[in-house]
Amino acid sequence: MSGGGKRIRPTLLLLACEAYGGNLQEAMPAAAAVEMFHNFTLLHDDIMDNAVVRRGKPSVFAKWGENVAILSGDAMMIYAYKLLSLVPESKLARIMDIFTPMALQVCEGQQYDMDFETCAKVSVVEYMRMIELKTSVLLAGSAMIGAVLGGANDEECRKVYNYALELGLAFQLQDDLLDSYGTEEELGKKIGGDILEGKKTYLMLQAMSRAVEEDREILRKTHLDESLSDDEKIARVKEVYDRYDIQHTVEQQISLRFDKALSLLDTLELPSERKEHLRVFAQNLM
Ligand code: IPE
Ligand code: IPE
Ligand code: MG
Ligand code: MG
Ligand code: MG
Repeated sequence: MSGGGKRIRPTLLLLACEAYGGNLQEAMPAAAAVEMFHNFTLLHDDIMDNAVVRRGKPSVFAKWGENVAILSGDAMMIYAYKLLSLVPESKLARIMDIFTPMALQVCEGQQYDMDFETCAKVSVVEYMRMIELKTSVLLAGSAMIGAVLGGANDEECRKVYNYALELGLAFQLQDDLLDSYGTEEELGKKIGGDILEGKKTYLMLQAMSRAVEEDREILRKTHLDESLSDDEKIARVKEVYDRYDIQHTVEQQISLRFDKALSLLDTLELPSERKEHLRVFAQNLM
């Protein structure tokens, strides 16, 4: 936890709470709970993705081994529930009803993410559903819990959820993009991990659908080619991405989702100055 990270989920929770005039101090345990849960998913995600760097340091499994990362992750999930139990009692049942299905959805999304690695054909619709589950629902659930704690009605909570859901899609698309086009310094993760793992990212799906057969063969086979170094594999796949201007395509999709998030924000029945922090948050995230 002391490794930092952007802490976007607790921030979102607190901003949603604040927008409806809630007590931020009362919302702190729930904010800590969603961040704790997120960090648990990262411990296990790095094992699944074979990712040895996280937040600019060796990932937990790389440093202490898989068993420690599994068990520490489990403990953090339990700790997340412990923190969540500290929310005001009158709201506990409602918040549990948001948190638990959300947490299960994240697991479901993570399984799709792994299943897709060995799936010959994954559609954009299937991909969008997968990132909604593995990433967006946690942002959306965090925002919704914040709105509940702020005293928003069900209809408003639903809208806050949908705003953060769209934002989460844009965020994961951006994460996919940066995995190939970012730098290790800015990201704190190794670049090209998705390519090496054969992930069906939005970049990969778009490239597959546009490329001629010869390039499609490169996209399908390169990560399995034992005669190539990791850097060669990454460079070879990115060459194909560049040939079809994939970076630009992803950026367009990100901006579409981002605009949708902002238009959902407009529909909240709050004076616009109350939505200002949520708007700025979205902008900063992008
Ligand atoms: C990483 O999340 C996992 C994804 C859903 C992309 P973050 O990018 O929020 O990670 P930290 O917490 O800031 O390190
Ligand atoms: C993360 O997806 C989703 C969860 C951790 C649940 P990624 O596997 O793309 O996240 P990073 O890139 O490792 O942070
Ligand atoms: Mg992953
Ligand atoms: Mg990962
Ligand atoms: Mg990623």
